[in-house]
Amino acid sequence: MNPNAIHLTDGTAQRLREFLFRDEDFQALRALVRSLTGINLSEQKRELVYGRLTRRLRALHLRSFAEYRELLRRDPSELTELCNAITTNLTSFFREPHHFQYLREQWLTPLAQERTGGRLRIWSTACSSGEEPYSVAMTVLETLTERDRWDVRILATDLDSEMLERGRRGVYPPDRLHGLTPQRQARFLPEVQSSPTGSRRIAPEVAALVTFKQLNLMHALPMKGPLDVIFCRNVVIYFDKDTQRDLFARISQLQRPGDLLFLGHSESLFKISDSYALIGKSIYRRI
Ligand SMILES: C[S@@+](CC[C@H](N)C(=O)[O-])C[C@H]1O[C@@H](n2cnc3c(N)ncnc32)[C@H](O)[C@@H]1O
Repeated sequence: MNPNAIHLTDGTAQRLREFLFRDEDFQALRALVRSLTGINLSEQKRELVYGRLTRRLRALHLRSFAEYRELLRRDPSELTELCNAITTNLTSFFREPHHFQYLREQWLTPLAQERTGGRLRIWSTACSSGEEPYSVAMTVLETLTERDRWDVRILATDLDSEMLERGRRGVYPPDRLHGLTPQRQARFLPEVQSSPTGSRRIAPEVAALVTFKQLNLMHALPMKGPLDVIFCRNVVIYFDKDTQRDLFARISQLQRPGDLLFLGHSESLFKISDSYALIGKSIYRRI
């Protein structure tokens, strides 16, 4: 007998924990999360689910995950909290810097030499707290110097309502600024005068290019396209292959031949979509 377990009458053992968390709770939450978000929680994610949801159970004064599941049935607004708690939101400014280098050197610079202006549409599909779309906006501002000739819009979407709120606020503490050179900080994120911690706020010229909207990638994509560039980074890694296939089939309809798609460092379209050609490290061009 395991001394760190409670042995239940049905013969199963429960680890001693603050909240009762049975296998059926994990299986039911796992199925619910998958149907809501596409996120595929493997068996190994049991502790992650427990850890991420205990904060909700405490806040709601519940005693068990069975009670939490009952609440989810009664109160659909808790589904948003469930999704917010389960999503992994890790991001940073200029994450995977070679993507921004490609954008500047291989796309924006030649474009500015070819044309004197025009319309550019960019979509950050899982923008988390905004660092990714703001990094794109900074790259645009640094490269397209004759800005008034260009109509640039960056759409930043995510499922997580809390992250979108952070993105819209555009205020970042010092420990979130590591991807930014001092020059970029000075130009694009002036210090917040009233902040004792040295937080910085996205400058209006950067914020003006970015629009945040809530969008679940499992649902119909409401935009018309065409989209010159799509960033879909570090999100499909949480989806199973069929979900990825379905998503990229829909995404590819929003792009014309030659348009760009950036994936995360451990993601790939191999056996997922043949609408794109690999042209660099996790960089694709629509065929
Ligand atoms: C690890 S972050 C990636 C952020 C950014 N793209 C980057 O690479 O730094 C993953 C994001 O995907 C979002 N996400 C997860 N499932 C989603 C879905 N079904 N629809 C939209 N966003 C989703 C999460 O809320 C989270 O903010």
